[in-house]
Amino acid sequence: MRQAMLGALILIGIATSTTVIAQTGPASEKLRRGEYLATIMDCSGCHTPGVFLGKPDMQRRLAGSEVGFQIPGLGVFFPPNLTPDKETGLGSWSEADIVKAVRQGVRPDGRTLAPVMPYHNYSRLTDADASALAAYLKSLKPIANRVPAIVGPNEKATAPYLSVVMPQ
Ligand code: HEC
Repeated sequence: MRQAMLGALILIGIATSTTVIAQTGPASEKLRRGEYLATIMDCSGCHTPGVFLGKPDMQRRLAGSEVGFQIPGLGVFFPPNLTPDKETGLGSWSEADIVKAVRQGVRPDGRTLAPVMPYHNYSRLTDADASALAAYLKSLKPIANRVPAIVGPNEKATAPYLSVVMPQ
């Protein structure tokens, strides 16, 4: 009787630990895939503070760029904060919102992103990869960093930006 109980207890122990592995295994594999994709797709090459000043702030990786892109006739666009900070980042976005912005260039408010954000090429992402990338962004430590607001085509920019210079 005692032996049977012990056996049952051991069995429960094994069952619980396998469940834990079954839950953390694929989830962390998915996050690792997301991190890999974020790295090779170079999200931080645009979305990290200091990156265009030659001094990427890796402590605040993916927390947005203070340097914008000017697109002639469209305005100046700053790569936003991709960490899950509620006020200044993607904290209130769902994974589906992120997938839609990355693959179709459409934000939850319906605005289409400026084409500096390479969503045309990212539209080729598979569902599994898009989901891994979004889950990875949601797993980051939230960092509060508000990037400058978009500057309209006829407004004067007050934050630094990269531009296309047409030959005279
Ligand atoms: C060449 C620069 C560049 C690269 C590389 C890039 N982005 Fe962007 N991204 C931008 C810019 C600029 C914007 C803002 C465009 C706008 O506001 O219209 C943006 C906007 C976004 C937005 C919308 C955020 C918001 O608050 O509106 C998301 C989400 C996003 N990028 C995710 C990513 C991810 C994920 C990657 C990597 C897989 C990536 N971006 C790579 C430049 C880039």
